[in-house]
Amino acid sequence: MTKGRFISFEGGEGMGKSTQARLLAKFLEGRGLKAVLTREPGGTPGAEAIRQLLLHPPGEGWEAEAEALLFAAARSDHVARLIRPAIQEGSWVICDRYLDSSRAYQGRAGQLGDAAVRQLHAIGSHGLLPDATIVLSASADHVQERLRARDGDETDAIGGRDDSYHLAVNSAFEAFASEEPDRFRIIDGEGTVEEVHQRVLAALSPMLPEARP
Ligand code: TYD
Repeated sequence: MTKGRFISFEGGEGMGKSTQARLLAKFLEGRGLKAVLTREPGGTPGAEAIRQLLLHPPGEGWEAEAEALLFAAARSDHVARLIRPAIQEGSWVICDRYLDSSRAYQGRAGQLGDAAVRQLHAIGSHGLLPDATIVLSASADHVQERLRARDGDETDAIGGRDDSYHLAVNSAFEAFASEEPDRFRIIDGEGTVEEVHQRVLAALSPMLPEARP
């Protein structure tokens, strides 16, 4: 059986990743493919339980190291129980956030460093990387606007961190994309949902199967 493909969506807060991931999964199903839509942290019962601990931490919250370990533990369960089996069975896996979120949030903005985050990934998930990673990007002004619009919203332990943390996250994704151009596709996330969806399809077109007449 042909193996499936693995696509991750990445970007800062409120960039419309979830919507775009869902639209891509729907598009693939429309082409007659099996597509599994999933997210991180989460995707399996164990990883969803860890998600709660991360986004709504008990007590004083996590130190940077513990936070990175929890993300890696959630990913380990997700990869072993859902992502790898689905790819083996020939499904496409569309994942809303994956390793590069740990690299951007814990590694860069949280200052743990890329080597440490990659080491945890090597242990936890045998280093599994997506075939393609879509980064939804926006201008600095646009990002600032979104961050301002969040103020007062009910948020979580990570979404609620200050603007400088989130600006570091956004620039980290752009840096990763230029360092690893074969895996990453940067997509302009501004415009209508449909416009962004078309950009995603165009960026992935070499991988996508032809439409059947
Ligand atoms: P979520 O509500 O899914 O955020 P969003 O809608 O912005 O994708 O919450 C996930 C949060 O966890 C988000 O703030 C990003 C953060 N995160 C990390 O810090 N490291 C990681 O490895 C992952 C997967 C997410």
